Amino acid sequence: MKQYAYIRTTGMYVPETVVVNDELAQPLDTSDEWIQKRSGIKERRYADVGVSNSDIAKLAVENMLSKGEIAAEEIDCMIFATLSPDYHFPGTGLVLQEKLGWAERTIPCYDIRQQCSGFIYGLQMAQAFVETGMYKNILIIGSEVHSHALDYSPRGRAVTVLFGDGAAAVVVSRSESETSGILVTETHGDGRGALNGVHLKLFDIGKKPIIYYNPDDPDNNVEMYPEMPASKNLFANAVRRMAEVSMSVLNRMDLTVADIDWMLPHQANIRINTLAAEHLGIPAHKVMFNIQKYGNTTAATIPLLLDEFAGNGTIKRGDLLLLSAFGSGFTWGAALVKY
Ligand code: ACO
Repeated sequence: MKQYAYIRTTGMYVPETVVVNDELAQPLDTSDEWIQKRSGIKERRYADVGVSNSDIAKLAVENMLSKGEIAAEEIDCMIFATLSPDYHFPGTGLVLQEKLGWAERTIPCYDIRQQCSGFIYGLQMAQAFVETGMYKNILIIGSEVHSHALDYSPRGRAVTVLFGDGAAAVVVSRSESETSGILVTETHGDGRGALNGVHLKLFDIGKKPIIYYNPDDPDNNVEMYPEMPASKNLFANAVRRMAEVSMSVLNRMDLTVADIDWMLPHQANIRINTLAAEHLGIPAHKVMFNIQKYGNTTAATIPLLLDEFAGNGTIKRGDLLLLSAFGSGFTWGAALVKY
């Protein structure tokens, strides 16, 4: 018998340190006005030095478990989506598993690297694992510590102002119902965008040594920092692909935009989401945002929206949610979830 998957519970954590746009103005040669007008961002959270991605992810998981909807022992698989892992390897999922005290249970931990689309990709994997009966309760984490790896000189301003730190967790479980839960997921990738979109080389395995760093020559240490060579192209692709894949999942389920209660788009730029919603014909009051508070938290944006807006009662069980993302790679995807 086919199994169905649903989002059982959620949790989140954002670091306490709030960094408003004005604090970035002088070092980056930018302004609050530019950042708000071009991106919608007012402030973001930064993790303290010494705090790793797995540390904030652990706090998000503990927040989720504190809601009492699932016991840690029931979780039988972990999918960790991030572009800012603790280490090059091993994966941050394993580091987190140990920090949570779960290592003795030896549950499998997948690290996935689909940037801003990481949560949608993770949701699709979890759906497939549950529907095939492979696992019963899958923990998906979207977590990022961007702030430790950004370029705080004017050279980096176009990227640095956009990103913030945060973590969110959800559990996907087996459902009895075939009419609720994760109705459909769709994901795409186009590797032509690999070095045209946002990317961080940091190391290049084709070189020896694989990392170039010269403290006496800071101007040439550009590979230490994320780059965004074609931001306008990225912007246009994001609007087009998010609208396209959202329409595709609706068509696959014989649903229309009128059926959607809430759109939860990835939070890269408030203008991207406004335009994508306009293309789709989704009214602005149905589109959820948290970019103004957190900036772009990459794999964490959608589960953060889910936890905040389900937590304050805006999203209710039974609501039809459209999740949609576009990110570096290029990667993109969408999901329809009867919450
Ligand atoms: N402060 C002040 N000026 C700036 C800043 C800044 N922080 N950053 C760039 N500028 C300047 C540029 O140098 C440029 O100056 P010029 O006209 O003299 O050359 C000017 O502002 C205009 O820059 P544009 O690139 O035209 O600005 P735009 O309106 O396109 O906004 C932005 C830039 C916010 C980056 C936008 O293009 C964007 O959001 N792009 C897409 C980002 C995205 O999709 N990310 C998703 C993937 S991220 C991921 O997956 C990790």
